[in-house]
Amino acid sequence: SQDARIARISSSIRVIPNFPKPGVMFQDITTMLLDPKAFKDTIDLFVERYKDKDISVVAGVEARGFIFGPPIALAIGAKFVPMRKPGKLPGEVISEEYSLEYGTDKMEMHVGAVEAGERAIVIDDLIATGGTLSAAIKLLERVGLHVVESACVIELPELKGRDRLGDKPLFVLIKAA
Ligand code: PRP
Repeated sequence: SQDARIARISSSIRVIPNFPKPGVMFQDITTMLLDPKAFKDTIDLFVERYKDKDISVVAGVEARGFIFGPPIALAIGAKFVPMRKPGKLPGEVISEEYSLEYGTDKMEMHVGAVEAGERAIVIDDLIATGGTLSAAIKLLERVGLHVVESACVIELPELKGRDRLGDKPLFVLIKAA
């Protein structure tokens, strides 16, 4: 059942207190990758949701969106587009700056990777404040894509990242405390 799959996925994620700094409960998905059934169930749940939605672009956010995005893209017959930290992509890029707790960061994608009018989803492992996902959505919309939904394995609802996405839909498998 769906609930059994979610329960297995949830218990495969390790929580490490005080990483990378005091007070943060780090949601470590690397332990899920060691459980092929939990990893497959995760991919399958996304694939079941997106396979008949005419999606031609799966955009994945560095770094852990690069783990979940490609198997989803392959299964639904879409292209995978990496959204990277600055200075990593060799071709012509379009970039979007976004604010962090302290300072700013930047995200880049190759301009020639997509065509205006394509239907996209954005994948990451986790949404915290929503800054990363909202920057990814903005970039994709700037090149004329229709972002159908963002999808994460884990949401930290207390940080209200969902609000930062405004009216853009967000789908998550697990809400963590
Ligand atoms: C984490 C996570 C998301 C982002 C979410 O990445 O994987 O990409 O933070 O945070 P937000 O919703 O507050 O923007 P991290 O900053 O650890 O970068 P990394 O994946 O490259 O290690």
